[in-house]
Amino acid sequence: MEVDSDRLNAFMGKMITEVGAAMNASLVLLGDKLGLYRALAAKGPMNSAELASATGTNERYVREWLASQAASGYVEYDSTSGKFSMLPEQAMALADEDSPVFLGAVGNVIAAAFLDEPKITDAFKSGKGVGWNRRSECLFCGTARFFRTGYMHHLVQEWLPALDGVVDKLKRGAKVADVGCGHGVSTRLMAEAFPNSRFYGFDYHEGSIAAARKAATEAKLGDRVSFAVHSAKTYPAEGYDLVCFFDCLHDMGDPVGAGRHVRDSLAPHGTWMIVEPAAGDRIEDNLNPLGRAFYSFSTFLCVPNSLSQPGGYALGAQAGEAAIRQVVTDAGFTRFRRAAQTPFNLVYEAKP
Ligand SMILES: C[S@@+](CC[C@H](N)C(=O)[O-])C[C@H]1O[C@@H](n2cnc3c(N)ncnc32)[C@H](O)[C@@H]1O
Repeated sequence: MEVDSDRLNAFMGKMITEVGAAMNASLVLLGDKLGLYRALAAKGPMNSAELASATGTNERYVREWLASQAASGYVEYDSTSGKFSMLPEQAMALADEDSPVFLGAVGNVIAAAFLDEPKITDAFKSGKGVGWNRRSECLFCGTARFFRTGYMHHLVQEWLPALDGVVDKLKRGAKVADVGCGHGVSTRLMAEAFPNSRFYGFDYHEGSIAAARKAATEAKLGDRVSFAVHSAKTYPAEGYDLVCFFDCLHDMGDPVGAGRHVRDSLAPHGTWMIVEPAAGDRIEDNLNPLGRAFYSFSTFLCVPNSLSQPGGYALGAQAGEAAIRQVVTDAGFTRFRRAAQTPFNLVYEAKP
């Protein structure tokens, strides 16, 4: 086939942008760890010496980092004053952990992708899975911080109210299971909002449950919240009014078996809430920047995790509503609907 030089030039332009973004990912991680974005957002405009002094770092390194961030469009540079600053929008994405669009934690997840790459390369050849419990440490805290943004701004405000009658039960005093709870961010947010209810977090990864317990103790939530190591098919079936699966159903080897267990564990008129990454049903619906990010996470994280578990169903993080409906229906639920959505998540309600 003949090479089209315009197409080649355009593709090379795209690839140079990609190389810059990929290399800069480690510098985003570093900027987040060292508080460089936070200090610049709070005290800028600053030159490299001022930012280095404010963060206890070395000026020469900080000077190069600032130039790379300005070239990335992540910070602003004023050539007249020689100072750098952050626009409010840049600060929201990179410096403010509590903003609704914080992405600064993603560097941890990207670091884990590179650290774990040899295991995933082997898995491509063997077809075997790589479980969540075999991943690099930084994946767990990175995931917790990455998802916290969405939960903090949507869970109590929009997602729970979108479920039929659930908020009334939570206000009166309900029993809630948070399955695949990871570090328990969602569990804590619900417990803080509904002090009359009891929350039980379960995850099959011991390290995550230990971190969830520690954070709940620090938040002084007392016995309203407890955590235990259990898989989605073995947690105690004790009549929950609400069972939540936050960003984990598609990670499971046997989501239908998990769904059957949820059904057995619900109180009469109980609700299963399933939060999944936003996705269309067909590949062509997801060939966009968000689908690109999710398919990449899915290849390195979600599919290997599911393949590591009995069942190996491997829904993938871009399963879409039709595939989730199939799982829920196969698990014996008769009612299923999309209850809420954000640009990043779809929230489903299922009832027996
Ligand atoms: C992407 S993380 C989401 C964690 C948490 N729900 C959050 O949103 O921050 C997926 C979680 O599912 C857990 N998980 C995967 N398979 C599981 C299973 N079969 N039973 C219980 N937990 C599981 C993992 O250990 C991990 O904590």
